[in-house]
Amino acid sequence: MQNLKVTGSRKNIMQSEYYDLMADLLNSQEVQGLKKYQHHIMTTRFQHCLNVSYYNYKICRFFKLDANSAAIAGLLHDLYYYDTKEYTRRKPAVKHSKHHPQRALQNAEKIMELNDRERDMISKHMWPVRLARPRYAETYLITLVDKYCALIEFILPQPGRFRRFCRHLCAKEQKL
Ligand SMILES: [Fe+2]
Ligand SMILES: [Fe+2]
Repeated sequence: MQNLKVTGSRKNIMQSEYYDLMADLLNSQEVQGLKKYQHHIMTTRFQHCLNVSYYNYKICRFFKLDANSAAIAGLLHDLYYYDTKEYTRRKPAVKHSKHHPQRALQNAEKIMELNDRERDMISKHMWPVRLARPRYAETYLITLVDKYCALIEFILPQPGRFRRFCRHLCAKEQKL
């Protein structure tokens, strides 16, 4: 039995209702392709999208919101295939923040038909960096879940790796 976990939990989510719902999309070539990209320094874009999708699903289910759309939009919200570091080396980081949700939406629409709520969640997940205001409660939630996941992805996984990263930063500072 394979193991699939979200950051911050030891549970194998392959035996969950979430996995039953999302297995096809999770195993699609397009989503699996995100494993090649580093994200938020400490993880992969696949793991980040999985984290956002899973927590989004759970929270929306708890509040009796549209949990299925939340899971789909969470998984596809950062569906873009370029190296963020490379991009921000050439253009200001704020451009990437504004540009990538649109790119993710275009890529997502090539895979499947999205409903209005999913489109809103993907294209506005960077709110308030992007000025367009969310239309749905689920969109406000994804903006929070996305930021929460970025934080735990940076701090929780592989404490050794996090310590090495801190040491690397300190060494850089000492050279300055
Ligand atoms: Fe994003
Ligand atoms: Fe994200």
